[in-house]
Amino acid sequence: MSVSSPSEAVEAVEAVHSGPGGEPVLTVDGLHITVAGGRAEAVRDVAFTVHAGEAVGVVGESGSGKTLTCRSLLGVLPPGCEVSAGSAVLAGDGGAVTELTALDRRQWERLRGAELGAVFQDPASYLNPALTVGRQLAEPLRVRLGMTRARARERAVELFASVGLREPAQVYHRYPHELSGGMLQRVLIAIAVACDPRLLVADEATTALDTVVQAEVLDLLARLRDERGLALLLVTHDLAVVAEVTDRVLVFYAGEIVEDGPTQDVVHRPAHPYTAALLRVASLGDWNRRELAVIPGRPPEAGQAPPGCRFADRCDFAEDRCRTAPIPLTRTPGGRRVRCVRAAELTPILTAPPEEVPA
Ligand SMILES: Nc1ncnc2c1ncn2[C@@H]1O[C@H](COP(=O)(O)OP(=O)(O)O)[C@@H](O)[C@H]1O
Ligand code: SF4
Ligand SMILES: [Mg+2]
Repeated sequence: MSVSSPSEAVEAVEAVHSGPGGEPVLTVDGLHITVAGGRAEAVRDVAFTVHAGEAVGVVGESGSGKTLTCRSLLGVLPPGCEVSAGSAVLAGDGGAVTELTALDRRQWERLRGAELGAVFQDPASYLNPALTVGRQLAEPLRVRLGMTRARARERAVELFASVGLREPAQVYHRYPHELSGGMLQRVLIAIAVACDPRLLVADEATTALDTVVQAEVLDLLARLRDERGLALLLVTHDLAVVAEVTDRVLVFYAGEIVEDGPTQDVVHRPAHPYTAALLRVASLGDWNRRELAVIPGRPPEAGQAPPGCRFADRCDFAEDRCRTAPIPLTRTPGGRRVRCVRAAELTPILTAPPEEVPA
């Protein structure tokens, strides 16, 4: 499925993914992440749930805290960064629950690749250049699932075929440097889903790929979600990707969720001025070169946020009351959450076509 405009993408999403997900797989609550050895807070009070079979998008400009949030859920925060408060609960089979913020290194290693799968932007850096990709997929099947060498090899070839790699038996014997970026991303997805994880976290997984390969990889993720009931957390700076694949979207700004709701609703009827600005930028000019369009101004750096609304300096609708105290994330009818004191009055204005919104 390829997308040529936001509304086309939304119609495609509505056609393919109609129902909500199943039981909660990941429940994040009050998550705070500090950087620079605790000197600055980069993620503040993040809370959301991902259900089985549900794809949740995380969108926002660079530096908004998407990757740190993701990495905290995978136990791979960079040095100097840590979860300073909050909880992230992963529900396992048979009602078992795991508090991710309390795991030690050995527990993380057991969980990653088993219940949690991850796919990142640069697949080459996650693969061992000295081993064939087949061996890198067969190894976890032997170690984690106890398969024989022959069965693991057979299953690896099946998995390579299932992620759309042509001639999978030949691919098995290739080294990472012998494969293209799109093929490597498929290999990484095969490894990520090999042990049937409940949650797949994909952070800018398609950003480095060309448009056609990107669309194929997104289709693959959506198919795995549908076939396996996988919960998918899809992080991207690209609203077109979110509109194409996700059921629900979390909009991040300066380390906070500023809007959360069903993707079609948010894309058609943004309730936060930042979401509306992102949509406006995405629909301006050449859709294939949308990254060239920008929202004027810059988000505050971690630790430099103003006392009130973090978006106030870039917001066309800011008033004095926006700048005095932190703005709460408020529930609105229709399963939305919005962090804006003017959301109710602004939604009809923000929904208007771009030319009718004040510049
Ligand atoms: N390793 C790090 N050390 C210090 N600050 C970091 C580190 N990683 C990220 N940050 C800061 O945290 C904020 C969020 O970063 P990140 O989660 O990477 O954003 P995104 O993925 O949305 O682009 C940024 O302000 C960034 O400068
Ligand atoms: S709270 Fe005020 S400044 Fe912030 S987004 Fe809403 S209107 Fe704009
Ligand atoms: Mg990032």
